[in-house]
Amino acid sequence: MTRARAAAPEDASEEASLPGQAGGAVPRHVAIIMDGNGRWADQRGLPRVAGHRAGAEAVRKTLRAAGECGVDTLTLYAFSSENWRRPEGEINDLKGLLGYYLERELDTLAKEGVRLKLIGDYGAFGPELVARLDRAVERLAENSRLTLVVALNYGSRSEIAGAARELARKASEGTLDPSAIDEEALAAELQTAGLPDLDLLIRTSGEVRLSNFLLWQAAYSEMLFTPVLWPDFDETAFKAAVAEFAARQRRFGGR
Ligand code: FPP
Repeated sequence: MTRARAAAPEDASEEASLPGQAGGAVPRHVAIIMDGNGRWADQRGLPRVAGHRAGAEAVRKTLRAAGECGVDTLTLYAFSSENWRRPEGEINDLKGLLGYYLERELDTLAKEGVRLKLIGDYGAFGPELVARLDRAVERLAENSRLTLVVALNYGSRSEIAGAARELARKASEGTLDPSAIDEEALAAELQTAGLPDLDLLIRTSGEVRLSNFLLWQAAYSEMLFTPVLWPDFDETAFKAAVAEFAARQRRFGGR
């Protein structure tokens, strides 16, 4: 079955019968700021780690729903560069959970055709977790049904600065003409290079801010802020978000 796809600015006139209207389209690329694990645990008198554990289950449900909806790329903000300010015990819990989840889910991810991509400076997580993460990326590298992008020790400003640095390096060594630096050239140096444009950004838990996540990539994406705490996010919530996206008008700066 051919699925309607979210129209990008360049191909809006080709793809959508009404230019600029999502018109029932499935978002190709959805990103989620998974927020509210701590509050979910607090509400139940549980330790924060219980909230993160429940959050990992929400990841499993969301990933399945994304596959069923025909989403191409799902990007999850699992650990921000600001999360190092948390107590060491909580950081270790999060690292442990990530390794555990990956190991437990790897066969399922492989069977379901999920490719894994990591963005952020995840080298900071130490050689053991890095090796496990790299092994998972390698094992899933040939898959193409859905790309799961996990942002680990990620910060958008730092990503953009890194891209600018790389362009400057190429210009100074004479392999890049500074006048050729345009949006496309900068986007090609971001860690998200090669991924589809971001169509829909979701943040759970009622907070209404981007918190240094995909600042460049979110330029034209739809935003959806929901009061649902991340551990309560599930297939139904994901499908409702996709339905809301489909009902929105996308104008890309036009009328
Ligand atoms: C925000 O809740 C959530 C995080 C900082 C971590 C997200 C991590 C997971 C869902 C676990 C595993 C991830 C994967 C990809 C398997 P918070 O602690 O900031 O909640 P609060 O704002 O209510 O305190």
